[in-house]
Amino acid sequence: YLNYCVPRTRKEIFETLVKGLQRLEYRGYDSAGIAVDGDKNTTTDGINNNNIVLIKKKGKVKALDEELYKKDCMDLEVELDTHFGMAHTRWATHGEPSALNSHPHRSDKNNEFVVIHNGIITNYKELKKYLNSKGYEFESKTDTEVIPKLIKYVYDNREREDLSFSTLVERVIQQLVRSPLLIGVRSKYELSAEHIPIQYNTGELSMFKEGVQEKNSHNRPDISNAVNSVEDGKAVEYYFASDASAIIEHTNKVIYLEDDDIAAVVGGKLSLHRLNRLAGEVPVRAIQTLQMELQEIMKGNFEAFMQKEIFEQPESVFNTMRGRICFDTNKVILGGLEDHLKEIKRCRRLIMIGCGTSFHAAVATRQVLEELTELPVMVELASDFLDRNTPVFRDDVCFYISQSGETADTLMALRYCKDRGALTVGVTNTVGSSISRDTDCGVHINAGPEIGVASTKAYTSQFVALIMFGLMMSEDRISLQTRRLEIINGLRILPELIKKVLTLDKNIKSIADELYEQRSLLVMGRGFNYATCLEGALKIKEIPYMHSEGILAGELKHGPLALIDKHMPVIMIIMRDACYTKCQNALQQVTARSGRPIILCCQDDPEVSKNAYKTIELPQTVDCLQGILSVIPLQLLSFHLAVLRGYDVDCPRNLAKSVTVE
Ligand code: F6R
Repeated sequence: YLNYCVPRTRKEIFETLVKGLQRLEYRGYDSAGIAVDGDKNTTTDGINNNNIVLIKKKGKVKALDEELYKKDCMDLEVELDTHFGMAHTRWATHGEPSALNSHPHRSDKNNEFVVIHNGIITNYKELKKYLNSKGYEFESKTDTEVIPKLIKYVYDNREREDLSFSTLVERVIQQLVRSPLLIGVRSKYELSAEHIPIQYNTGELSMFKEGVQEKNSHNRPDISNAVNSVEDGKAVEYYFASDASAIIEHTNKVIYLEDDDIAAVVGGKLSLHRLNRLAGEVPVRAIQTLQMELQEIMKGNFEAFMQKEIFEQPESVFNTMRGRICFDTNKVILGGLEDHLKEIKRCRRLIMIGCGTSFHAAVATRQVLEELTELPVMVELASDFLDRNTPVFRDDVCFYISQSGETADTLMALRYCKDRGALTVGVTNTVGSSISRDTDCGVHINAGPEIGVASTKAYTSQFVALIMFGLMMSEDRISLQTRRLEIINGLRILPELIKKVLTLDKNIKSIADELYEQRSLLVMGRGFNYATCLEGALKIKEIPYMHSEGILAGELKHGPLALIDKHMPVIMIIMRDACYTKCQNALQQVTARSGRPIILCCQDDPEVSKNAYKTIELPQTVDCLQGILSVIPLQLLSFHLAVLRGYDVDCPRNLAKSVTVE
């Protein structure tokens, strides 16, 4: 965050940085730190230095916030006319969570250069060895620390006295073998004029949405007078953030950096250039207006973002369909795919690629996509897809399903398929994300910002978006019209049915009351509801930290049946669809081993209820949409189990919302 010619107290600066960090906490929360300008002083060599102060703390941003006010050496009320501060919340990759390993990292004990960084420096060991041999001592176990040390090394050994700050940083970046990278560097020195921050967004691997956020202060009525009174009219504030949610309350005007862009603020003016730029090459980047509203990223009356997002699903699913389905003509138009539809229809196969919940959305819709597109559909976990060096051809169409649009594994898979000439389609929830930018075409699921680490509303919106794709593909297939109509009618009333499912919250809480002390929970189903088992089990693992497995009911007798006895909690999903009889067989196998299944079933199904220990009765919908309803009770169950077990629902241990490392 930078204010230039805008008076701000140190307290206001702290608050801006901390609030921004709290909004980004979903990306990592094992430690946090800030670097702010201290008081100016003059060194013995006559350089007017900013005395950069680092404050770092293990734990969540709240712990850092408390720490800031303990520093009684820093005057909180002092007004700083021009000031640059940086802050970071960490999800450990190299080095355990600790204050020492948290960012910002520094070049030396005088904090001459400080750096924050997202991503991984793959060649950090070699660089560290080299720098050690030159006498540079490291204090952390992170890869990041090589950046400030290397900056210092290049600075100390500069040949030309007028080495500008951006040239210095650029030279260092060129030495880093990096996977997605965003760095912010602050120097204590006023090197040439370019001494403010630099952000660099690599792009070698095109892995990352990062942006420079700009706010011209005359957009803010409360300080507009101050701007006018500044002689050269340069009073500005700039926000640089990994995600627009960190700055949305200050501005809705953002610039998204492209790969290899460097942004620098010099004398209150933002400039952009390219790494390894040719002389005179100046990138032109549009200032975009964010549609996101502040209240969309606030918890409101809910206990947790996850809970809020579960309850938002009637609206989020509606928003996925809004303006895309014409219920009078049964036409489905996904604008982002229209131009490529012919090519998609001619393809050899569809490959659906994602991780975690996004992968489950592919599993959930595979069958109906096969049916509606009459094409082979492969579903792939991005990491495994890459491990196998899966053959991909020019006439394949590859879908990348990702809430964040930034998941490293999925992005790597995207690159892999692009290199092989396949058509690439993004299905993301984040406008401007790397996946949405790097794919040939795509669909935004429009679920609204998802803050809770556990993905909930993005899953149901991905589900709906993929089904809409199937409907679009089958528009001219006469033999499929009855089926299409059935699905379109199902989609029309889906938001209402979701509302009905959400009224079961109290029943689900009472089931959680019974289960929360258990160690394990199995979830079984098949056909259209198999994905619900995988997704439900993932939710139960990641938020309440209970062992859980999603089991294909058809596989029960091939092994998992051995786990069943009267003590093992089992949830079974038995809906009135083509697998109904087979699911009842599985139910018999479970009850015959004294299992006591909690059954998710359709309303008024005495045949199933009589064998259940407990039932959760859901409204019935079209078979291929039923998974949207059946997953919601499991999302709610995961939430209640976590609360009862005393865990932080929105910040599950060891996890981060955007997994931008492989
Ligand atoms: C689970 C969860 C993760 C993500 C996965 C992919 O609740 O959120 O499994 O689904 O990390 O993330 P995206 O969809 O952002 O690519």
